[in-house]
Amino acid sequence: MSIHQEIGRRRTFAIISHPDAGKTTLTEKLLLFGGAIQTAGAVKSNKIKKSATSDFMEIEKQRGISVATSVMTFHYNDLKINILDTPGHKDFAEDTYRTLTAVDSVILVIDCVKGVEEQTERLMEVCRMRDTPVIIFVNKLDREGKNPFDLLDELEEKLNIRVRPLTWPVNMGSDFKGVYSLYEKKLYFFKVNKTKVEDDVLPIDLDGTLLDEKLGARDAAQLREDVELIEGVYDPFDPDTYRAGQLAPVFFGSAVNNFGVKELLDTFCEISPEPISRPTDKRVVNPDEKNFSGFIFKIHANLDPRHRDRIAFLRICSGKFERNKFYHHTRLDKDVRFASPFSFMADSKSLVEEGFPGDVVGLYDTGTFKIGDTLTEGEELQFQGIPSFSPEIFKELINTDPMKSKQLEKGIQQLTDEGVAQLFTLSVGNRKIVGTVGDLQFDVIQYRLEHEYGAKCRWVPMNISRACWITSDDKKKLNEFIRLKGLQIAYDKDQNPVFLADSDWMLRMNRDNNPDIKFHLTSEFK
Ligand code: G4P
Repeated sequence: MSIHQEIGRRRTFAIISHPDAGKTTLTEKLLLFGGAIQTAGAVKSNKIKKSATSDFMEIEKQRGISVATSVMTFHYNDLKINILDTPGHKDFAEDTYRTLTAVDSVILVIDCVKGVEEQTERLMEVCRMRDTPVIIFVNKLDREGKNPFDLLDELEEKLNIRVRPLTWPVNMGSDFKGVYSLYEKKLYFFKVNKTKVEDDVLPIDLDGTLLDEKLGARDAAQLREDVELIEGVYDPFDPDTYRAGQLAPVFFGSAVNNFGVKELLDTFCEISPEPISRPTDKRVVNPDEKNFSGFIFKIHANLDPRHRDRIAFLRICSGKFERNKFYHHTRLDKDVRFASPFSFMADSKSLVEEGFPGDVVGLYDTGTFKIGDTLTEGEELQFQGIPSFSPEIFKELINTDPMKSKQLEKGIQQLTDEGVAQLFTLSVGNRKIVGTVGDLQFDVIQYRLEHEYGAKCRWVPMNISRACWITSDDKKKLNEFIRLKGLQIAYDKDQNPVFLADSDWMLRMNRDNNPDIKFHLTSEFK
């Protein structure tokens, strides 16, 4: 197969949702269609239950699950489909944001009862930053949800994207009869069916009498009216506008009943983008280039604390990746090769000899990689779009076992390389501040420092609400600002200066008073 064919048959995407909307259930149904798993219940939810926030066994278990489900690959309609898993728990949101840099599109799951929820909005913001194409699946139609027209309005308003329904529900909740496919002009009848693909489909002429026979006069009239309204209000669906990230097609269904999932998958296969070009600091890299390139978007610690090695997840962006071949690690300016790269297949790992754009390869790592690192065949470039986001919770790291300072230092460096949290060093006194998006990470870090590195620490909460990277075209002004702000200045791991604000008000004030200084909420501003 030529590289063009290899690229053309790959689809790499993530399913995102607010916890409980049905991401795990939908993932499982997709894998069932692809034959990657045989039974329902095979995909473990990577959810951390609320009650378990300080249960370390639970955290360890979740780490195990999240390695196993990091990438799920299946074959469908001659396509090789890679689903990248994203943690549902909001404390691990940053991990999700980074995974989104490694996909070419996403499927967003919405609970029809709850509509757009907080986490959905934030995830979509990240997708909008890169114009990632989005397909929306409105789930749980077997429950009495919001009016579908209201839902569409809510999606447009809160997610800041135009939408276009491709299927339309006939009633909801106990009265739910099925969905009408607006582009196939077929009616799919709903049956409670948790394990099999629905097969009750009928091509239907909306103006004919068959519709009344099948749905009853009232529901038939309502469907005609709804469809007329949709066709009147929404432009015809244009796949190019979707692929440009400007328009989200919307499907309705019920994941747990396996309803509406096949249409979703079939349409996904038809319209979703194949591996796309990616920006670097030097130029745009196209997938069909001869030379290999890729970047690390996730690092996972080994579950066995006796082995300090880790798994780095490489997204291949161009060319062909081969086992045992030397590649250039551009940040370290050194050549590395991998004797046992592996791929992920639902619940097993297997050695890979080669990989193509869109694929994700697991690499054993002994501390060589940081998130965002780029591998090439020699060209000096660095993939962009893998920013750190300003954390929300900040605590000072205090060493409680002075005999183990070295271990603590090494541990915190490595854990922050993995992206568990961000490390800032105060310019005054060399004090270490750890910033995260959720409280749970502090427990995880403390636990892992002790169990994997033999170091002990405690946390002192800091009165900081934002860390903003600061830059200026005027070096003198920047240095002056840094000098004046003293205790409010820290440095990130790459020695970039960061301003620590104790409130949004304080940030605004500093912004207003210092027009020559730029304040950035993500680390990517080059
Ligand atoms: P998540 O990964 O997005 O967090 O959600 P998950 O798939 O775990 O689904 C959350 C809950 O919603 C599960 O129920 C699941 O069975 C249910 N669910 C998923 N799809 C549908 C649907 O189409 N209709 C209805 N009514 N429910 C749905 P649970 O009680 O939390 O777990 P379980 O014991 O049922 O597995």
